[in-house]
Amino acid sequence: MYFDLTEEQIAVRDAARDFAQNVLKPGVIERDEEQRFPADEIRQLGELGFMGMMVDPKYGGSGMDTVSYVLAMEEISKVDASASVCMSVNNSLVCWGLETFGSEEQKQKFLTPLAKGEKIGAFCLSEPEAGSDATSQRTTAIDMGDHYLLNGTKNWITNGSTASTYIVIAQTDVDKGHRGINALIIERGMEGFIVGAKENKLGIRGSDTHTLMFQDVKVPKANRIGEDGFGFKFAMKTLSGGRIGIASQALGIASGAYELALAYSQERKAFGKEISKHQAISFKLADMATDIEASRLLCLKAAWLKDEHKDYDRASSMAKLYASTAAMKHTVEAVQIHGGYGFVKEYHVERLMRDAKITQIYEGTSEVQKIVISRSVLSE
Ligand code: CAA
Repeated sequence: MYFDLTEEQIAVRDAARDFAQNVLKPGVIERDEEQRFPADEIRQLGELGFMGMMVDPKYGGSGMDTVSYVLAMEEISKVDASASVCMSVNNSLVCWGLETFGSEEQKQKFLTPLAKGEKIGAFCLSEPEAGSDATSQRTTAIDMGDHYLLNGTKNWITNGSTASTYIVIAQTDVDKGHRGINALIIERGMEGFIVGAKENKLGIRGSDTHTLMFQDVKVPKANRIGEDGFGFKFAMKTLSGGRIGIASQALGIASGAYELALAYSQERKAFGKEISKHQAISFKLADMATDIEASRLLCLKAAWLKDEHKDYDRASSMAKLYASTAAMKHTVEAVQIHGGYGFVKEYHVERLMRDAKITQIYEGTSEVQKIVISRSVLSE
């Protein structure tokens, strides 16, 4: 077993850390307050190669491994989880799905600008009545011969109004259940495609989350990903990798809060000494450090399995379940360590606490991860 990072992985991590601390941090409180999408910052992330990290350079990507992606996601998420969810969806749910299952034509046309960061992608699965129960898709894609006719509504779509390319999961043949579902590529500007209301959220307030409506959108057959009926398996496979990204986001949120709490506890004095020297605080720091290290190891293990082309479904769900639980618990503790200062915006930890909650909900709730893990355990 070999735990050291390569020089290249360390360089990627350090570049992401520099970008997060020097470019993302200065405006992050204002963007959260104003619910402003970090458009310029995402453009710069694209120029640095962070929007298509794992894509083959022949399609405009950076050709890096999933371990590097985890390292970069942790550093960006320490500072700005609104930027990192945009990065994660583009990398894991859109670019990876297109590169792995798309046709050569789809890769040339759609993947390349997404991997270069020239365009942003969105992944549209959730509906008003299909969240955890993802097979119950109400959006329909009726086969009209040379095209599909798409109708329905998608909810809580990350990058909803900023994306140019949308992967939409829809039901073509209800009688076939999940085997009648397709994944279609929709382009911004297609007739009948309407971007609806923006959500006013508890956390990741700088991210761009919208309802999307499709009213008789004509989608060419060439925009279907994979064989007819492959859409549900496409979504499940894609989400499995996506969960490594969100687990790393949760890890970053927790480690960002921990670093702030550690530094604060070594400066702030109470009862005649730094609060870090009181056991009530030092034991909290010990618990945080331990859970963060465990989260990091689970994320890196899942990433390594993916890079080795081994099964990573269970590992990615374990990483997401553990890291998101730890992020929620320890961001609350980071606020507690800061006392009154933790409750005000300038100290960052209250935002990290609000941001942590979504990691237990999107790309499958904690309960969904337990379904995936328990089925895997019980099938052994
Ligand atoms: N890989 C390949 N195939 C898979 C798979 C995987 N990881 N998981 C399931 N499948 C296949 C199954 O084998 C089955 O196919 P067969 O019948 O041919 O064998 C089919 O898919 C149906 O699977 P299940 O019977 O297991 O389906 P289920 O209805 O019991 O649901 C579930 C399982 C795990 C709960 C699934 O519905 C799920 O993951 N739900 C959560 C959805 C989710 O994560 N949504 C997030 C939205 S995207 C988002 O949040 C993005 C964002 O904006 C940040």
